Amino acid sequence: MKYQLGIIGAGKIGEAILSGVLSQKLYAPSDLILSVRTEQHRQDLERRYGVRAVLANREVAREAALVLLSVKPRSVIETLQEIADLLHEGSVLVSVAAGVPLEAIQSRLAKKVPVVRAMPNLAVSVGEGMTVLTPCRFIDPAALDSVIRLFRTVGRVLVLDEQYMDAVTGLSGSGPAYVYLIIEALADGGVKMGLSREVAIELAAQTVLGAAKTVLVSGEHPAKLKDQVTTPAGVTIDGLMELEDGGLRVTLIKAVVKATERARQLLHK
Ligand SMILES: NC(=O)c1ccc[n+]([C@@H]2O[C@H](COP(=O)([O-])OP(=O)(O)OC[C@H]3O[C@@H](n4cnc5c(N)ncnc54)[C@H](OP(=O)(O)O)[C@@H]3O)[C@@H](O)[C@H]2O)c1
Repeated sequence: MKYQLGIIGAGKIGEAILSGVLSQKLYAPSDLILSVRTEQHRQDLERRYGVRAVLANREVAREAALVLLSVKPRSVIETLQEIADLLHEGSVLVSVAAGVPLEAIQSRLAKKVPVVRAMPNLAVSVGEGMTVLTPCRFIDPAALDSVIRLFRTVGRVLVLDEQYMDAVTGLSGSGPAYVYLIIEALADGGVKMGLSREVAIELAAQTVLGAAKTVLVSGEHPAKLKDQVTTPAGVTIDGLMELEDGGLRVTLIKAVVKATERARQLLHK
């Protein structure tokens, strides 16, 4: 096969992975082929990344060892039908489509092609993504490892059973949007108290980033870290009391529950 990696549907997620792979030097531009739907987008990607970009999904499926399918969920089945006969047992197919189960993908393939279902999030675009992978049962460890290495170029990777994928979609898949809302609201608080919008957003965003990092680096339970910054009779406990009073905790829990339920319905709408 001519290419190490083929990306079908190089939109927001596909392009972020393309960019991560190149900047981390996992592959060279000449190892990559990708496809999109429109000529203008094709030319733009070819010019900016120096990779081969085409309009023919079948060429990507035929020529790439690892095929990443990153079209919208509603286009996945149609795209699979288009490329199914070209994928073979030596290639690996990775789908990032939200709500599309492994079985729905595998049942469309002509041969026993190893498939991995992936759920990344938009933070892959800055190399801080959270991606959860679910491989099919018969994938060999080296093939799974190549997929793990691919997503590690754009952030953290976990491998989980498929039964958790809807919850993953509702938490880390949709999660950046929840956190944007939290950052915006924290900044509003700063603006209300006289900070400029620009300063307030920077303070809020870096605080979220720093808090997230302390959780991941220390491995401590967030409640313990919260206790460490909450001085008796100090300032922070007053802020926390307001958050509890406003039901922030239960509101966030319910956001994940609702989004998970929605993810469950995606393929059936
Ligand atoms: N965005 C997220 O936060 C996120 C998170 C997790 C998973 N996902 C999953 O990632 C997938 C892609 O999402 P996205 O946000 O990256 O979407 P997107 O930005 O709209 O990208 C989709 C890309 O697919 C191309 N495309 C559409 N139909 C095609 C076809 N028939 N053949 C070849 N290319 C085609 C489009 O090309 P043109 O530009 O030329 O039309 C576009 O570049 C979805 O399945 C989604 O569920 C997204």
